[in-house]
Amino acid sequence: MFGIVSARRSAGAFGLSLSLAVAAMGVGAFSLSAGLSTPARAQDAKQEPKGEYQPTVGQRGKDVVWVPSPQALVDRMLEMAKATPKDFLMDLGSGDGRTVITAAKRGLNALGIEYNPDMVELSRRAAEKEGVSDKAKFEKADLFETDFSKADVITMFLLPDINRRLRPKILDLRPGVRVVSNTFDMGDWTPDQVADAGGDCTSYCRALLWIVPAKVEGKWKTADGEVTFEQKYQMVTGSVRAGSGVDAISQGKITGDQIVFTAGAVVYTGKISGSAIEGVAKGPSGEKPFRATKG
Ligand SMILES: C[S@@+](CC[C@H](N)C(=O)[O-])C[C@H]1O[C@@H](n2cnc3c(N)ncnc32)[C@H](O)[C@@H]1O
Repeated sequence: MFGIVSARRSAGAFGLSLSLAVAAMGVGAFSLSAGLSTPARAQDAKQEPKGEYQPTVGQRGKDVVWVPSPQALVDRMLEMAKATPKDFLMDLGSGDGRTVITAAKRGLNALGIEYNPDMVELSRRAAEKEGVSDKAKFEKADLFETDFSKADVITMFLLPDINRRLRPKILDLRPGVRVVSNTFDMGDWTPDQVADAGGDCTSYCRALLWIVPAKVEGKWKTADGEVTFEQKYQMVTGSVRAGSGVDAISQGKITGDQIVFTAGAVVYTGKISGSAIEGVAKGPSGEKPFRATKG
């Protein structure tokens, strides 16, 4: 599809061997780690063609080796993120550009951040060949030094420890930004959704989606009392005080700027806009408006 035939042909088999290595060592992260052995580097050099640059699956990257995501998973990741042409997508460590190019073909403006300049050039050529170079852009940069605050959708196929290092920056993005990772988690931040590529995908076939939650931790004033939220990522606990009665919060969850929680027999749903939550409280006596303000 992107003229990287040799790499794509070998991707499945290489992925499988990585998986076997993972199973044998019980260390998932190691399989994509940047510290590849010298023979592998020698192999890269040996396979370097005279003409157009040909990447080799498993070749060294700054912090992660290059292994391409299976195309079926790329498609699944974009579906999970509900990516639309209104979104701006950034792929952190964009490899041969397939995620960015796929997004551009769906009408998104997309930017790949890739440290390897040869991969950047390769991706630009691929975007040109696919007729989407107006929407699919690539930048030679270190993902740790990149500002991704303008992204609506972030995709990545990195490593668990890198994901964890990126986590604070991701949590500071505006609520509702969707982050999709091929295979690897973000530590104790539970994903909002997990899905498999299905079909004939054999390795690296699982995607994890997180939706950046609005921040609500603390005390909020209501018409007849207050709500105290304790927040861990998208999960909320705490209590609601209405008059003299206090109820613990259960089933509290934030999805982007939307919050839902139960206290006593009342289910609260609302939209968080900075220091205000506006919504409804639905209980045995019916539904009434709910408003809370921070402070
Ligand atoms: C596992 S590959 C994933 C490629 C692509 N995102 C995909 O899913 O097909 C990881 C990519 O990250 C790149 N990379 C590694 N460390 C990086 C860094 N610090 N900044 C930018 N790119 C990096 C590697 O060169 C490699 O192309």
